[in-house]
Amino acid sequence: MESKLVIFNHPLMHHKLTLIRNEETGTKDFRETVEEISMLMAYEVTRNLPTVEKKVKTPIATMKGKVLAKEVVIVPIIRAGIGMVDGILKLIPTAKVGYVGVYRDDKTLLPHEYYVKLPDKLDEATILVVDPMLATGGSASHTIDLLKKRNAKDISYVGIVGAPEGVKALQEKHPDVNIFLAALDEKLNDNGYIVPGLGDCGDRLYGTK
Ligand code: PRP
Ligand code: URA
Repeated sequence: MESKLVIFNHPLMHHKLTLIRNEETGTKDFRETVEEISMLMAYEVTRNLPTVEKKVKTPIATMKGKVLAKEVVIVPIIRAGIGMVDGILKLIPTAKVGYVGVYRDDKTLLPHEYYVKLPDKLDEATILVVDPMLATGGSASHTIDLLKKRNAKDISYVGIVGAPEGVKALQEKHPDVNIFLAALDEKLNDNGYIVPGLGDCGDRLYGTK
């Protein structure tokens, strides 16, 4: 079984991606555009969410409507993943948010966990792990391992820019997890950065460099 890989191909997405790739785009525009891209992605990512019937009385008649069957939990990987949360919450305002803090060691490129705060009943929820950058795939794989240890079953990864190396690693480790990316780039460079990518997403979101 290989996970589904969805790369968004839409004029609005291309336009917004070009804006955040541009090294001259400042923090404010970068942050706002990451939020907009995340909101657009959420619409497609949630296309197959299960629904249940619910009776609703309109001013005219009673009918069977549909509502989401399961709770949605957004899990941003701190820091950069936080930049995607508000955009997704605009479409799914009732979603819960669980935080996982992982940073990548500059030299080994291996993930190091430093914070975890998650809601209960992950086994019953649809979980969206969000992090704009899928480089080696180490941070995403580590986070998904951690969620599975807490019984999570229905997990998708939502990112903005991915490298083929990261997609392959994630598909090998977690073949049951669907991957959604706004763009799939060429490769990783020797420092583990995505080429052409957009640079260090956390630094660009929060102005730390
Ligand atoms: C970045 C990014 C991902 C990770 C991707 O985070 O936000 O979490 O790198 O790389 P990987 O696929 O090789 O694991 P970083 O470690 O720079 O931390 P930050 O978000 O706190 O800046
Ligand atoms: N993390 C980033 O923020 N950017 C990359 O290109 C790779 C990892």
